[in-house]
Amino acid sequence: RRTQVAIVGAGPAGLLLGHLLRAEGIDCVIVERQTRDHVLSRIRAGVLEPATVALMRRLGIDTGLNANGIEVSGFGIADGDRTIRIDLDASVGQRLTVYGQTDVTRDLMDAAPARGLDIVFEAAGVALHDLGSDRAAVTFVHNGREQRIEADVIAGCDGFHGPCRRAVPGSAAASMEFSYPFGWLGILADVPPCSSEPIYASTDAGFALVSMRSPQRSRYYIQVPSDARLEDWPAERLWDELERRLGPASPGPIRRAPALEMSIAPLRSFVCERMRHKRLFLAGDAAHIVPPTGAKGLNLAASDAIYLAEALTLFFRTGEQGALDDYERRALARVWKSERFAWYLTKLCHRFPGDTPFERRMQQAELDAIATSSVTQAMVAENIVGAPL
Ligand code: FAD
Ligand code: DHB
Repeated sequence: RRTQVAIVGAGPAGLLLGHLLRAEGIDCVIVERQTRDHVLSRIRAGVLEPATVALMRRLGIDTGLNANGIEVSGFGIADGDRTIRIDLDASVGQRLTVYGQTDVTRDLMDAAPARGLDIVFEAAGVALHDLGSDRAAVTFVHNGREQRIEADVIAGCDGFHGPCRRAVPGSAAASMEFSYPFGWLGILADVPPCSSEPIYASTDAGFALVSMRSPQRSRYYIQVPSDARLEDWPAERLWDELERRLGPASPGPIRRAPALEMSIAPLRSFVCERMRHKRLFLAGDAAHIVPPTGAKGLNLAASDAIYLAEALTLFFRTGEQGALDDYERRALARVWKSERFAWYLTKLCHRFPGDTPFERRMQQAELDAIATSSVTQAMVAENIVGAPL
């Protein structure tokens, strides 16, 4: 089988890229290791930047988003005794939209067949070949049979642990990483959230976050030590801890219900500055990771997909390499902006083991700057809605 673009991975990066290419009449196939249900069962991001919402609208895959997305015009940063509200309407005139990654990926998967976007699920042992030629190939085993797809270009949208980054020579040397000494324990439950807007709470007991998936479905997170184990966190312990950390800042009661999902995610900043090797291009988590504070991961996957689709569209239309050569620079420029903000917000809101009183004072002084300076507030607002494309 032959196609123009073979995409590895059916997460947000691969699905958005696939739809963008199909909209330009470019032939492509997505090869995904997991089942559809597995991809949709991973509870991850929940907040979309305006550019990501605009992309879903441009693709015409916005029925679910329009019906169930929740626009928020601000969010809170709680600091012990006060909650600083960042007013997005007033600061930047743009809003965030709460709409889960599972909903985004489901909508994109549902729209795929009608647009000729072929997704092969349960592809085992994906391997890349002949990246230097215009007959680069992806091989895998599907339904017990060895398959080979030849392509002009391969898009590595296979997440942080996928094989594509490793197929880029020099990628390890071109990578930078910063690990945080804690993780996030998350819970999803069918109760109205205690606040109609997200709240980032910086407390003496550690960070806590109020988020939501709908007016009836809450998503909460708390900072836990890196070595925390899920089995040590029965739901009641988590609810108690949320109550303790959020209680003072919460505008409403923290209602409890059985957990629909609980999981622990490590926090990491990672950038591989080599996003291309010959006919292989990396996009999304395959090339970079942000800590979840600030909700940038999914939105960066979307901007990478936009840049890569633009470059590939020009390439297939004109045969010119220039746009392909420029992809990495364009993508990285935006990646570093989000990396900086996710790192800044993470440093601002978490308790780091070993932090000295000086470092604590710096956090408090920064929070004070946000509370009292409209310029600092605008910086936060501008970054949370995301850099322009
Ligand atoms: P992914 O979503 O990881 O998709 C990659 C796809 O490639 C997967 O479907 C995978 O199965 C597939 N794949 C992997 N290996 C292979 C292979 N060998 N062959 C074929 N396919 C393969 N961001 C936020 O903004 N807020 C959050 O709260 C948040 N929570 C997160 C929690 C966790 C546990 C993780 C891992 C990430 C979280 N993120 C969050 C980040 C956000 O979800 C990601 O940035 C986003 O999913 C990136 O999309 P992607 O398409 O690049 O990668
Ligand atoms: C989620 C929301 C956020 O505001 C964030 O920074 C990270 C995650 C969420 O809803 O999952």
